Amino acid sequence: MRKIAVLASGNGTNLQALIDAINTGFIKNAEINVVISNRKQAYALERARNNDIEALWINSKEFFDCDEYNERILSELKSRGIDLVLLAGYMKVLNWKFARDFEGRIMNVHPSLIPAFCGKGFYGNRVHEAVLASGVKITGATVHFVDEGIDTGPIILQKAIMVRPDETVESLKERVLEVEHRLYPLAVKLFCENRLRVIGKKVIILPQTKQRRRNGCQEEL
Ligand code: GAR
Repeated sequence: MRKIAVLASGNGTNLQALIDAINTGFIKNAEINVVISNRKQAYALERARNNDIEALWINSKEFFDCDEYNERILSELKSRGIDLVLLAGYMKVLNWKFARDFEGRIMNVHPSLIPAFCGKGFYGNRVHEAVLASGVKITGATVHFVDEGIDTGPIILQKAIMVRPDETVESLKERVLEVEHRLYPLAVKLFCENRLRVIGKKVIILPQTKQRRRNGCQEEL
C-alpha cells in the first residue's frame, strides 16, 4: 500500500479527483494518509475531512523562513512514512532539500503545456491570463516530477486542448481543470503500478501488457 500525502492551497478539485480515483479503484494499492495546507481556509482541507482523511494546516507564517517551514513539512512526511507527495494547487515552493529527500517521489500538476507558461510567477489564473494574452492556439495540462527548480522536473504526462476564439480565463481554467482531473490520477496510477522510470529528463512509461507496448499509455487518457 502506497502512502500518499497531498499538499494543497486552494479549492482542491485535483485532490477530489485523486480521492475519487482511489475510491473507485482506478488507483489501486494507495491511500491518502494526510492533506497538508499552508492556508487554513483552503477548501482542500474540508474535502479531506469530508473523506475521513487527516487534514493539517501548517501555518507558514509561524516559521522563521521558507527552509524552516519546509523542514517542518518534511519531518511530518517522514514520520508518517509517506511514499509519494502530490502537489495539487500548492502555492509554496519546495526547497532543494525537500526535492532531494523525496526525489522521484514528488509530483505536481500544472495548468499549461510545460515548458510554456510555467516557472516563477506562473500559477493558477495567471497561467491562463498569459495564455490568452499570448494568442497561442493550444494549451493544456502537465503532470511532472518535481526537482529543485520551478516546473523543471521530468514530464510524466501532458494533454493539449484548443484555445477557443471566445475563450475567457474562467472557461479556460474550467476546461484545463477537466484535463488535469484525468491526467493526475492516471500519473499516480502509473506510479503505484511501478510503471514509471526516469532516465535523465525523460520519463519512460512501461506498458501494462504486451499489446500496449506499441502505443504506450496515451490510449488510457
Ligand atoms: C490547478 O489548475 C493546478 O494546476 C494549479 O492550481 C490549480 C489548483 O486547482 N497549479 C498551479 O498553478 C501550480 N503552478 P485545485 O485546487 O482545484 O486542484
